[in-house]
Amino acid sequence: MKILVIHGPNLQLLGRRETEIYGESGLDEINRKLERTAAELGSEIEIVQSNHEGELLDLIGKAGSGFDAIVINPAAFTHTSVALRDALVAAGLPTVEVHLSNIYARDGFRRRSLIAPVVSGQISGFGPDSYTLGLEAAASLVRRKSGRPDRL
Ligand code: DQA
Repeated sequence: MKILVIHGPNLQLLGRRETEIYGESGLDEINRKLERTAAELGSEIEIVQSNHEGELLDLIGKAGSGFDAIVINPAAFTHTSVALRDALVAAGLPTVEVHLSNIYARDGFRRRSLIAPVVSGQISGFGPDSYTLGLEAAASLVRRKSGRPDRL
């Protein structure tokens, strides 16, 4: 099983950016935790961060051939990008949308996700744990899809 983890724009600033909202953990720390969780789940992962919408679209456009599932924090593109939504639909992979903060408890414009209606599910508001929960959910979706029993 191979899962693609995508961090969207500005998430390279985690640990320095609005720490009262996003917490003190940096992206490297979150990624190390994801790698440990992936190993426990018996999954391979590839982790990518990009601030460029087009780069994310290219990556998702190719994901269908190399990956079984996607975990994505689309960050600000959550609320703006029809193109990202269309790319995820086209990829056709089990996909979990994750957010560190609870986007429903914040500014009005953050309460609408263009991504949520086209993905398998969303995890929002658990800080860095949103990513590990998202990875577990993605692995479980892949197992179910392939007829393998759930680990949980
Ligand atoms: C975020 C929430 C978004 O609204 C915001 O633009 C981000 C991070 C989160 O993880 O809580 O950059 O996706």
